[in-house]
Amino acid sequence: MGIANKDGEDPLPGEQPKVAVVYNLKKNVKSDVPDAEAEYDSIGTVKGICAALKRAGASTVMVDAAPDLVAHLMRAKVDLVFNIAEGAGGRGREAEVPAMLEMAGIPYTGSDPTTLCIALDKALTKRLLKTYRVRTPGYIVCSGADAKLDGVKYPVIVKPDAEGSSKGISDVSVAENEGELRAALEKNLAAYGGEMLVEEYIHGREFTVGVLGNGGDAKVFEPMEIVYKKKTQGDYCVYSYNVKQDYTKFVDYVCPAALNPSETRSMKQTALKIYNALRCRDFARMDFRMSPEGKIYFIEINPLPGLAPGYSDYPMLAEFCGVGYDALITAIYSAAAKRCGLVR
Ligand SMILES: Nc1ncnc2c1ncn2[C@@H]1O[C@H](COP(=O)(O)OP(=O)(O)O)[C@@H](O)[C@H]1O
Ligand SMILES: [Mg+2]
Repeated sequence: MGIANKDGEDPLPGEQPKVAVVYNLKKNVKSDVPDAEAEYDSIGTVKGICAALKRAGASTVMVDAAPDLVAHLMRAKVDLVFNIAEGAGGRGREAEVPAMLEMAGIPYTGSDPTTLCIALDKALTKRLLKTYRVRTPGYIVCSGADAKLDGVKYPVIVKPDAEGSSKGISDVSVAENEGELRAALEKNLAAYGGEMLVEEYIHGREFTVGVLGNGGDAKVFEPMEIVYKKKTQGDYCVYSYNVKQDYTKFVDYVCPAALNPSETRSMKQTALKIYNALRCRDFARMDFRMSPEGKIYFIEINPLPGLAPGYSDYPMLAEFCGVGYDALITAIYSAAAKRCGLVR
């Protein structure tokens, strides 16, 4: 791992790139909402990333994302930021750190503010991808429990429009009729505010697909299936916050998924199309459902997927595909460094 100096010369022998891992940690603040900090990282993840970068030859610093972030990074003279910060709040929260880094001219891993903002808004992403003819379940967006619900085809799943990590997707998120839907809307709007996505529930198998790299170097990992051992809610299977917390009880992970070659090809092609349509960079993970008739539906994309070793889906599927944690972190770093012209 080497970084060319400002004149584009090869790195000096023994010179180490200095990488800052920037994050928002779980603070264990008490909240009425059990999954309030679901998106934030634990210190174990930050240390895991630092250890992997160190083993690859970088020197690392750990920096909590705060308003004085840029001053801190300038003082530390970092070559590149490895960004996993989920942001403090608001619809554009995942773009907070990348926007600060853009302003300061500091290179960083992962997608730019525009991609991160679009992807965090599930309905906006669906609308955009429809113009690329990507199949996605029918939906409406509701900002009140008294919303007009004409034409809704039940069952539907109710989820906050701008959350991740299954935040707001409780064990009672599927509604079979208007009464259940209004109750779910009321409960979720009270807990999370914002807008709720009411989306046609797709029965069938669930998959997640990871992409790594840029342009011609982009690699699509084999689809990983989330195989449910039992129903999680009534007649339905939902990879909810509680299921993720207690995953050994509810799901098996199978990668490569048992799909025929044409299904695999189609899912991987769709994943790459979405990655490129949203101008994702370096890495991303996206979720799909496959209906019993074999139609592939896009559910959502995570351009900043969790990287918790031994827990998050992205490192898990990479590992299944022969790319261990250290190699994955190094590859994300290298993709960004190459894209930014820091290495050849
Ligand atoms: N339209 C849908 N049909 C069936 N299941 C869904 C649908 N949307 C979401 N789910 C279930 O809910 C889970 C979480 O939804 P997702 O949109 O991926 O949100 P998150 O950002 O929290 O991961 C999915 O992994 C899937 O199990
Ligand atoms: Mg998801």
